[in-house]
Amino acid sequence: MSEPEIRIFPNLDEMSAALAARFVAAANERSRREENFCAAVSGGQTPRPFFERLADSALSASIPWTRMRLFQVDERAVPPDHPQSNYGMLRRTLLDHVPAAAANFHRMEAERANLSVAALEYEGVLARELRPPQNHVPRLDLILLGLGADGHTASLFPGTPAQAERERWVAPNFVPKLNMHRMTLTYPVLNAAAEVAFMVAGEEKSRILQEVLEGPLRPELFPAQGVQPASGRLVWYLDRAAAERLSNARRSAP
Ligand code: 6PG
Repeated sequence: MSEPEIRIFPNLDEMSAALAARFVAAANERSRREENFCAAVSGGQTPRPFFERLADSALSASIPWTRMRLFQVDERAVPPDHPQSNYGMLRRTLLDHVPAAAANFHRMEAERANLSVAALEYEGVLARELRPPQNHVPRLDLILLGLGADGHTASLFPGTPAQAERERWVAPNFVPKLNMHRMTLTYPVLNAAAEVAFMVAGEEKSRILQEVLEGPLRPELFPAQGVQPASGRLVWYLDRAAAERLSNARRSAP
């Protein structure tokens, strides 16, 4: 596993622009090879400007949307029109504005009564769209992750069953402290990816970011530490405020 790459930007807007540029470049690399670009995206608030940029007509026109296969990293167990729905946020910022993106997007149906069945069916979607070799984990081209203030990522929260899952690709997960059920990609899929990009912004994330990047390796306490792509690229997109507690060596990263 290679050292993570650290990219620090003055603010969330410039960080979002840089990640959007990487997303477009990676999608076109695949398209030129007449291959689909398969990406999974997180919810929460940080990625909103990134999605809004992808929807902007100037950038959207340069994206091979018909070659895109979009997936969710995780979803809350709420209906798609619920204010807390990750899908709802993605729909309002991107999918409603780019029909081709919506047509190639696979929603996690986390509102279903039987989350185990819904998770299994989502595994089937991944298998169908990515067609991994027998007994292999599907390899996504890019996974976009966030970092929670408690060190969670996706819906892998400290001490929850999905954080310990090493076989299933998609798992239901009850999060006691939120009293909420979720559905999430698991470490096997996250760590099989060709590229993983964390997006972390804001002074309120500076402490947890320093713990995750520079503290002892304790992924059971800080699940984001468990994201270590076996043969993929790991890049941290940070704004200056989130990076302010990192060591000088890391902050002076090229
Ligand atoms: C979710 C997300 C989650 C998110 C982090 C950071 O469903 O909440 O997928 O993993 O990425 O909680 O969220 P913010 O970007 O809102 O800080």
